[in-house]
Amino acid sequence: MEQKITAAITAVGGYVPEERLTNADLEKLVDTNDEWIKTRTGITERRILRGEGMATSDLVVPAVKDLCERRGIDPNEIDCLIVATVTPDMMFPNTANITCDKLGIKNAWSFDMLAACSGFLYALTTGAALIESGRYKKVVVVGADKMSAIVDYTDRTTCIIFGDGAGAVLLEPNTAGFGVMDSLLKSDGGGGKYLYMKGGGSLNPASAETIAAKQHYIFQDGQPVFKFAVTGMADVGFELMERNHLTADDVAWLVPHQANKRIIDATARRMGLPDEKVMMNIERYGNTTAATIPLCLWDFQDKIKQGDNIVLAAFGGGFTWGATLVRWGS
Ligand code: UT7
Repeated sequence: MEQKITAAITAVGGYVPEERLTNADLEKLVDTNDEWIKTRTGITERRILRGEGMATSDLVVPAVKDLCERRGIDPNEIDCLIVATVTPDMMFPNTANITCDKLGIKNAWSFDMLAACSGFLYALTTGAALIESGRYKKVVVVGADKMSAIVDYTDRTTCIIFGDGAGAVLLEPNTAGFGVMDSLLKSDGGGGKYLYMKGGGSLNPASAETIAAKQHYIFQDGQPVFKFAVTGMADVGFELMERNHLTADDVAWLVPHQANKRIIDATARRMGLPDEKVMMNIERYGNTTAATIPLCLWDFQDKIKQGDNIVLAAFGGGFTWGATLVRWGS
């Protein structure tokens, strides 16, 4: 009998820039304070990619290199590379193409995926389907954002949250029942009015007016996003567990999008998971949008064991949200 092919995660790579932007630094830029930021978000510092000519692909390249080194493969063995990002180097060509060029990858097709904070889960589900089809053997899925490029450092409601980084996973075919097991992804364009960047697209092409109106920065109406995020992420995580007949005891790890510690805590509570099963690094990196989930896997990979059931969960701009079940191993 032919065995079912699943997409196993066989390596995790990551990269965060050296430069740290601390709460103390932000106190000098806007009217805020360390205590407020820590208690309302859980963030202590974020990483910032600085320098002329530095873009999101400069986060992706070292993350993919790290991944290839850990797996012991040549980048030319990759047959598809997907980059989830809301901060592409430019509108086109896509950042995945640019990355392949910088790494000398010749044998892959590559494309970007835009689903804000849920981008990594959307891309992971897509990459897994390519592996499951039997036509692809090494698919790299990256979540990467240079949020500092679209943050207004005079707006205290957003500049305290975001940071820069990239995380990447390698997907390979598996017939032993490991890898991406299930995904429950959602979107609701009605949420678009709460979290967006208006300028630079075909609706509001860059002009002196769009720049004066600060349309090339993130806008977020924090409270409604917070409320939708708490219910959205918790509901979808819970439903994913139920439809896979998993109790809290069966789940080894929750890997939540790192937007706000309070949202993470509420999601874990709803799923019945204790703190020690929740991957969290928001205090060090802030919200890196598409990069938060793979950066958690990168940071915690030594603690994960073969056979662990891991629930990845995200909520973000769109609205987009979802949860993915991974059984760790290869
Ligand atoms: O990753 C994509 C999805 N995004 C999210 O999931 C983010 C969801 N939203 C949030 O995490 C939170 O809404 C924020 C962290 C953005 C804001 O926290 P909040 O607890 O919702 O604050 P708030 O907007 O209700 O503001 C409370 C107070 C206000 O003052 P008053 O009106 O009570 O006097 C704000 O002006 O805190 C004030 N405030 C600040 N104070 C010090 C807002 N930002 C700051 C700040 N420092 N940086």
